[in-house]
Amino acid sequence: MELLPVMLWMIFFLGLFIVSPSFNIKTSDEESVECVDIYEQPAFHHDLLKTHKIQKQPSEIPKPVQIKQKNKWDTREADVSTWQCPEGTVPIRNDETTSSTSTGESYPREHAVVTTNEIPPKMYGAKATMSVWNPTVETEGEFSLSQIWITSGSYKTNNLNSIEVGWQVLPDLYQDKKTRLFIYWTSDTYNVTGCYNLLCPGFIQTSNRIVLGGTITPISVFGGKQSEITVFVWKDQKSGNWWLSLGSNHSLVGYWPAEIFANLAYADEVQWGGEIVNSQSLGRHTTTHMGSGHFSDEGFGKVGYFRNLEIIDNNRFQPVQDITVKATDRKFYDIKDMFREDWGTYFFYGGPGRIHSGVSSLALSSFFFYFSFIIFFII
Ligand SMILES: *[C@@H]1O[C@H](CO)[C@@H](O)[C@H](O)[C@H]1NC(C)=O
Ligand SMILES: *[C@@H]1O[C@H](CO)[C@@H](O)[C@H](O)[C@H]1NC(C)=O
Repeated sequence: MELLPVMLWMIFFLGLFIVSPSFNIKTSDEESVECVDIYEQPAFHHDLLKTHKIQKQPSEIPKPVQIKQKNKWDTREADVSTWQCPEGTVPIRNDETTSSTSTGESYPREHAVVTTNEIPPKMYGAKATMSVWNPTVETEGEFSLSQIWITSGSYKTNNLNSIEVGWQVLPDLYQDKKTRLFIYWTSDTYNVTGCYNLLCPGFIQTSNRIVLGGTITPISVFGGKQSEITVFVWKDQKSGNWWLSLGSNHSLVGYWPAEIFANLAYADEVQWGGEIVNSQSLGRHTTTHMGSGHFSDEGFGKVGYFRNLEIIDNNRFQPVQDITVKATDRKFYDIKDMFREDWGTYFFYGGPGRIHSGVSSLALSSFFFYFSFIIFFII
């Protein structure tokens, strides 16, 4: 009989373990960043960049569309993490390279995005201002991100080239659940090339301040002040490099050199929106949030948005006109596009995933407990 309580506890904990796949990780404010000589950064280990000469400045900074109307909604510009590195060096985080490539690889991804329908499909840049949130990510191996995709080729023809920028919550890589600025690229449909931030040779950083993978603060407040970042990507017509700048002040971060792409003379598609990984733990849909974790019909202040969507098709930014909205499953994450003078083409997007109820999880644990208890006595 002495075994009984022990066994009950074991069964109880087993029950808890099975129904509660959530995890906790240590968070730390100590960001380990190193100032690396600009010519010693990872890009210069790339076979095709051994003799690359750094382009210190883009030959031109294309202007965004001038908005005549004042912003009707109250928003603020978020800060990206910066570090004061000496001239001639760039700040680089010490994340583990190994975890970056395998993240969520085997699990299905879900999207809620806006896609261009440009004809002819030739774009040389894209821009957006996006609100910043800190979506819940249920389990390790999952993530939630909001970004711009600038691509050519496709999965189907196995020649996808991609430039991606936005914010993400990716515990596998950063060992925390903070909202972070990130970039990504691939030149072979995510097969061998590509990675986040500066984790592999590719992107060349020129800024001695902006930290890729650094936190973004503050986060938007539900029902309160909305916090946003502005991202510009454009192809430098002289060098063929794809430049990245951030914020209303166009702070230059660096560029994706033309050499690293197989096929990105121009982009044939641009997308804006959210993506999550659904690891479907226990065969259920994940409770990982996209955007604010709320659906598009909740409106400004409660839902994630991208505004002033612009593309470059003729050497300057212009409002994107012809778009299609796509969502993997509107039961979990949805999207709605709109237009207004001050916000141009904009959209609300996001959702909660499977509606999570702490009560049902607890109820299930109790059920396991009592069920085991009863079985034990019957035996
Ligand atoms: C991925 O890259 C490897 C190594 O280069 C190659 O053998 C393989 O065929 C590629 N897979 C696809 C789907 O392209
Ligand atoms: C933009 O630049 C101006 C002038 O240099 C500066 O006062 C302002 O703080 C900058 N804004 C941001 C968001 O960095």
